[in-house]
Amino acid sequence: MLWILFFICLSVSPTENCNTPNIQLTDKRAYQSTTYTGIDKIHYTADRALDGNQSTCSHTNQQIDPWWSVDLQDVYNIFSISIYNFHQNNGVTNISGAKIYIGNSRQNNGTNNKLVQNITAFLANQINVYEFPSSVSGRYVTVIRPENTYMVLCDVKITGTKMASPFLLIDQNKTWEEALNYCRGNHGDLASILDEQMQTFAELEAEKANSPFVWIGLHYASSLQHWFWVDDSEVEFKRWRYGKPQENCDTSGAMEKRGDHLWFSKSDNNKFNFICAVN
Ligand SMILES: *[C@@H]1O[C@H](CO)[C@@H](O)[C@H](O)[C@H]1NC(C)=O
Ligand SMILES: *[C@@H]1O[C@H](CO)[C@@H](O)[C@H](O)[C@H]1NC(C)=O
Ligand SMILES: *[C@@H]1O[C@H](CO)[C@@H](O)[C@H](O)[C@H]1NC(C)=O
Ligand SMILES: *[C@@H]1O[C@H](CO)[C@@H](O)[C@H](O)[C@H]1NC(C)=O
Ligand SMILES: *[C@@H]1O[C@H](CO)[C@@H](O)[C@H](O)[C@H]1NC(C)=O
Repeated sequence: MLWILFFICLSVSPTENCNTPNIQLTDKRAYQSTTYTGIDKIHYTADRALDGNQSTCSHTNQQIDPWWSVDLQDVYNIFSISIYNFHQNNGVTNISGAKIYIGNSRQNNGTNNKLVQNITAFLANQINVYEFPSSVSGRYVTVIRPENTYMVLCDVKITGTKMASPFLLIDQNKTWEEALNYCRGNHGDLASILDEQMQTFAELEAEKANSPFVWIGLHYASSLQHWFWVDDSEVEFKRWRYGKPQENCDTSGAMEKRGDHLWFSKSDNNKFNFICAVN
């Protein structure tokens, strides 16, 4: 049996330790709907669920739909989540009824993502392990209790492997056309963003930029009155800042470095950092 497992691991992911690909969480950012402050004046912040210490917990106020979420700051294939809460007589650490969502959307506090687990029969003073099929991936993991209650998490561990990014930020300022030529000469093409996961990979690159916008491979063909991706894909997935972008000659699409990383129509001769596809 062992040799079979060995070969499965090799073929799936040659560089990862296949036994315990624990994602390092102590350097990740966690968020929660509200933060409870105890009579001891301790702020039960979201990051306390990630500090590896089972006796320090995150804790929201009592509210409708309390949630906790972690931004993994990369896109991961996620294999399992383990949750430990110690027992308290008032039952506040029993999170039975909670739901786990995983994906790339920040909308609706993470609940637009894939529902991967309904937590039932949660056991306090034990590590509760939830395992997922191979198709589960994303940047955000959210735990929410759809009722009027608290969210308490003492220790969360996540196993998974980082997915390779299809994109690379070039932190030089160039016009759109110079950027296109640079990508074509050195990498793949300017980035085409065809779905939410590609948008997330592009957002991760845009966050590293030293210009307020980054060029992507989106260009307006005034002769055809049509926006297109430089790799010839149709523009179906969209993240325009304004419903309908300005359609002038010599305009291209740029993603904002900050905020929701929406797309803006910008004159081609602006000089911005840019995102190349790697292949
Ligand atoms: C875990 O947290 C408790 C409570 O704050 C503290 O007393 C203990 O020293 C911590 N353990 C470690 C290993 O840091
Ligand atoms: C936790 O809560 C669930 C549902 O509210 C309940 O069925 C279960 O018995 C509780 N578990 C413990 C250990 O109290
Ligand atoms: C997200 O959570 C906050 C805090 O609980 C809440 O006020 C807000 O309504 C939630 N947003 C959505 C869209 O559910
Ligand atoms: C969770 O429960 C809902 C109904 O309450 C169900 O539709 C859904 O399939 C369940 N999801 C999982 C992953 O078990
Ligand atoms: C790129 O331009 C921005 C202003 O838009 C500037 O702050 C930044 O320093 C420039 N970066 C480089 C590498 O020149």
